Amino acid sequence: MKKAVLVSVGFLQLISFISCALDRSQFPPSFLFGTATSSYQIEGAYLVDNKSLNNWDVFTHLAGKIKDGSNGDVADDHYHRYMEDVELMHSLGLNSYRFSISWSRILPRGRFGDVNSLGIEFYNKLIDTLLLKEIQPFVTLNHYDIPQELEDRYGSWLSPQIQQDYGYFAEVCFKAFGDRVKHWTTFNEPNVLVKKGYLIGTYPPSHCSYPLEGCRSGDSAIEPYLAAHNIILSHATATSIYRERYQVNQSGMIGMVMNSAWYVPFRNIPTDRSAAQRVLAFDNGWFLDPIIYGDYPPEMRQILGPRLPIFSLDDKEKLKSKLDFIGINHYTTLYARDCMFSHCTFNISQGDTFVQTTGERDGVLIGDPTAMPDFYVVPYGIEKMIMYFKERYNNTPMFITENGYAQASNKDVPMKDFLNDTERIEYLNGYLASLSTAMRRHADVRGYFIWSLLDNFEWLYGYSLRFGLYYVDYNTLERTPKLSAFWYKQFLNGEKVQKQKAS
Ligand SMILES: *[C@@H]1O[C@H](CO)[C@@H](O)[C@H](O)[C@H]1NC(C)=O
Ligand SMILES: *[C@@H]1O[C@H](CO)[C@@H](O)[C@H](O)[C@H]1NC(C)=O
Ligand SMILES: *[C@@H]1O[C@H](CO)[C@@H](O)[C@H](O)[C@H]1NC(C)=O
Ligand SMILES: *[C@@H]1O[C@H](CO)[C@@H](O)[C@H](O)[C@H]1NC(C)=O
Repeated sequence: MKKAVLVSVGFLQLISFISCALDRSQFPPSFLFGTATSSYQIEGAYLVDNKSLNNWDVFTHLAGKIKDGSNGDVADDHYHRYMEDVELMHSLGLNSYRFSISWSRILPRGRFGDVNSLGIEFYNKLIDTLLLKEIQPFVTLNHYDIPQELEDRYGSWLSPQIQQDYGYFAEVCFKAFGDRVKHWTTFNEPNVLVKKGYLIGTYPPSHCSYPLEGCRSGDSAIEPYLAAHNIILSHATATSIYRERYQVNQSGMIGMVMNSAWYVPFRNIPTDRSAAQRVLAFDNGWFLDPIIYGDYPPEMRQILGPRLPIFSLDDKEKLKSKLDFIGINHYTTLYARDCMFSHCTFNISQGDTFVQTTGERDGVLIGDPTAMPDFYVVPYGIEKMIMYFKERYNNTPMFITENGYAQASNKDVPMKDFLNDTERIEYLNGYLASLSTAMRRHADVRGYFIWSLLDNFEWLYGYSLRFGLYYVDYNTLERTPKLSAFWYKQFLNGEKVQKQKAS
């Protein structure tokens, strides 16, 4: 990838990438190009229109959980500004938008209360506004948030009861929105949810155990695997319902989204090569192998033995509903160093992989650092990641459901320092070029979503990281395009020119 050269400095002037071959026409016309968000991170309106508290509302209101002491009560106030936000996407020329549905807006009390008609109405309006602008809704059913009542009643993901309750929620959504939604994903990054929620305890419900500190309860050796098991079977429950009752009429696809970093062996020796394979299997195969092949990866079974739950015959029957596509959230590449056969210390957050992951080797970083710890700029990683999925899962259709670049922020940094985001443009340009290489190598990738449309509430980092193509002023909630918004628009407009030429 040659370096992008910015020839014009005014934000309203066009951006030229002189020696860069990247072009919309390298991607099929049906390819989805969008931006991604999630409900808790942008909606705000946290108790408006009969929405109830979810786990993140409760968690962020506890002292000391979020870096800047903030929460998502208001966030980007997208709930009240969705029309403006759809207009922003339309102005960029997107043909798809990935967002998530807030479970506690639709079912404030989970299965123990009524469907909230006001919640249904909000997403109906959002979906209809998108379609009017020819933007396809790409919908996540669960992006970390869950009605607090399900946590309080039975411990949410730790109980098999969640499978039925999740299925019920999914069916309410298929019924209400499935006539217009053609892409569903059941879960966003369940691999992150279970590790942070039940292994290290930094996300709700804050479970962990010795030697990890700071949790009131939990069992880091068992609970992550139990929660994952119930999530996999919740996926299977929802997917079976979709296949049996909705898919024929609604003709959509349903998949799951993984957080997938690429790993390079720390040294070119067999033990580090197998460490890289092992950590990839623990990250991705943990969920995708059961869903696609009916059982956990052998790499995990070997290490975990009976700590890994067993799928009953009934479960295996349900798992036959599989998935239609794999969603890949890809941001970074790290080194993987074996700690099973050679002595080294590894971070407990890597769980039971016996792998040390690091972005540094002999004092040299694997790529330029970004404001997000452990996120380095390594464009070739996305091609490797895609080819890994292509091989392991027989070229199941894939969407890049997230890819993006974070800027560090605090209240004292003025807006103008964020608008000239040439590093973000270089990042996106590099990753897109590498993605197109994977497609030339026959990987079945069907869409690409930039995280994110707007700066938003970045979980534990609060508002101290800015991932948006649009800058958000958190006092006025005004949205201002960064240079990357113009870049994306220019890239997408290239396609329209091409299409006209071709026809
Ligand atoms: C934006 O940043 C680039 C390099 O990072 C610099 O060359 C250019 O002058 C900047 N433009 C403005 C308007 O500040
Ligand atoms: C909102 O909740 C209140 C209290 O439960 C209820 O009386 C009201 O009917 C609800 N509104 C709608 C439109 O569902
Ligand atoms: C699917 O469509 C068929 C034929 O139009 C109809 O009879 C059936 O009720 C529909 N099923 C659902 C679940 O809407
Ligand atoms: C281990 O990982 C956690 C979570 O990713 C991180 O906060 C912590 O700093 C890491 N510890 C070390 C020693 O690298």
